Amino acid sequence: MRERFRVVGGGRLTGEARVVGAKNSALKLMAVALLAPGVTTLTNVPEIADVVIMAELLRRLGVAVEHDPVHGVVRLDVPQTLGHRADYELVRALRASISVLGPLVARVGEADVAVPGGDAIGSRGLDLHAAGLEALGATVHVTHGYLVAKAPQGLSGADIRLDFPSVGATENVLTASVLASGRTTIENVAREPEIVDIAEMLVEMGARVQGAGTSRLVVDGVDALTPTTHRVVPDRIAAGTWAFVAATTRGSIEVVGGVAEHLGAPLAALRAAGCRVEPTERGFRVSAGPHRPRAFDVATLPYPGFPTDLQPFALTYNAVAQGSAMVTENLFEARFRTVQELARLGADAQIDGHHVMTHGVPLLSGAPVESSDIRSGAALVLAGLVAEGETLVSGVHHIDRGYPRFEQALCALGADVQREPDDDWFD
Ligand code: UD1
Repeated sequence: MRERFRVVGGGRLTGEARVVGAKNSALKLMAVALLAPGVTTLTNVPEIADVVIMAELLRRLGVAVEHDPVHGVVRLDVPQTLGHRADYELVRALRASISVLGPLVARVGEADVAVPGGDAIGSRGLDLHAAGLEALGATVHVTHGYLVAKAPQGLSGADIRLDFPSVGATENVLTASVLASGRTTIENVAREPEIVDIAEMLVEMGARVQGAGTSRLVVDGVDALTPTTHRVVPDRIAAGTWAFVAATTRGSIEVVGGVAEHLGAPLAALRAAGCRVEPTERGFRVSAGPHRPRAFDVATLPYPGFPTDLQPFALTYNAVAQGSAMVTENLFEARFRTVQELARLGADAQIDGHHVMTHGVPLLSGAPVESSDIRSGAALVLAGLVAEGETLVSGVHHIDRGYPRFEQALCALGADVQREPDDDWFD
């Protein structure tokens, strides 16, 4: 059954919001577990549907998965002998499935992974993943919609340079290299906290990885890894979402479990725009000033730049902030779906190539809107909170993929958001 959120705008949101482990780390760490036979346990795992899909994918590879969503624990019992095929049916539902590629080639010497669909946010190639694996000695080709990688003799260390610091390619090349013979250096890698999280878990498993968090990784291959118990890094995109909820609704929110250091660029921008950002014992707090906030320019970049996943929130913020501002998307080409929906709510925003120019209006005006991915969906709920009257946000299943019980967390801050069947949806 399709659901939607009925959002009644108005009011500053105040209180606390809790952040758990990052979706974009938890899913990858589940794939990393494939590298070691035995029982690996992950804690602080978010209660989201994507974890269920990844669990199913791993089960089909032979892993016994126990998932306790309420306590955020996933226990993976990885067999000695693994399958090597990730079906289209699951991969199309979850792009992050591609992260089994590196571990499978390393452990099994072979991987057939369907070329993913996933979020509707621009075309995302796999050329860097493939080139990295080829440099390590695998043969890679695409056939019948599957990326087929083979390395029957095992992988060998190599000097690799990524043309772009892709998150996914960094992960797959890193996870492929830990069991390769000899030393691998990978230049121009992604530096996201989720990459550091993967590297830390790999080291706990006995891998020899240096340089995580910098743009150069050095990996000395080992013969085998051992299972571990690992706590997933806090979700910086969820934490950043709460920061924008506070700033946009002119409220004050303590982000419990949030790590301010992982949000350098967005928090600096909010501070410069007049918000107060202060550390607390349990995380950090963002409080809007007494006046209407100022709009600010944003250009998305690989970490530590402004995250593309927070770009829809910056757009929503600018739509109601004082003044004009430009948001530039440098990572994904079609990631401006929020704009046409914001325009339905009365925002003054124009797309020009990979830029969006906004002229802030004091208040949006409630209307039905459609979310098309996790972040644009959550950003439209935020827009509804600063709109006069009622906003119906359909496509709630997208939001559920990144924000467990989003409406309950918002209501705890004083919002009026209800989940209801989407009666207007015709299948
Ligand atoms: C991950 C995140 C996503 C986030 C993105 C950028 C997950 C599940 N998703 O996605 O939420 O928005 O990082 O921070 O972790 N590219 C190529 N060839 C490749 C690989 C990538 O051209 O082989 C391009 C893509 O088309 C895209 C850009 O590089 O334009 C960034 O992609 P990448 O960093 O790989 O993002 P993902 O890992 O897919």
